[in-house]
Amino acid sequence: MRVHVLNGVNLDMLGRRDPEYYGSLTLPELVGKIEEWAQELGLRAICWQTNFEGQYVEWLHEALERADAVIVNPGAWTHYSYAIRDALELLKMPIVEVHLSDVDAREEWRRISVVRDVAVKTVMGKGPEGYREALEFLAKQ
Ligand code: DQA
Repeated sequence: MRVHVLNGVNLDMLGRRDPEYYGSLTLPELVGKIEEWAQELGLRAICWQTNFEGQYVEWLHEALERADAVIVNPGAWTHYSYAIRDALELLKMPIVEVHLSDVDAREEWRRISVVRDVAVKTVMGKGPEGYREALEFLAKQ
């Protein structure tokens, strides 16, 4: 099973962002863990990150042809990007929404997710382990 893991805006700054919410792993370290966990579960994780919304949408279009499932952490786009939501709606495959921090316990505006109802599962507030939980969920599908 090919799982595309798409991290969005500002997630390249992991390791420099507030560790209270995002922990201390850098993005390359997180990607290393995701790839390792996927391999243990017999999955293939392909990880990308961008700060450009259009690029993120393009990768979702690519997933249409090339992925069996996607894990998305769109960062702040989660809260307002209908373009990303529309692109996710095209995917006829399991979508898992992951957030390192517990977005529902933070500022009011972070409690809105415009992608939540197109995802089969949302994992939040579990740090990097949230990606493992998402992979485990997909491995069982
Ligand atoms: C985030 C939460 C978002 O509110 C925030 O804008 C991010 C990261 C998370 O992983 O906790 O950039 O998606």
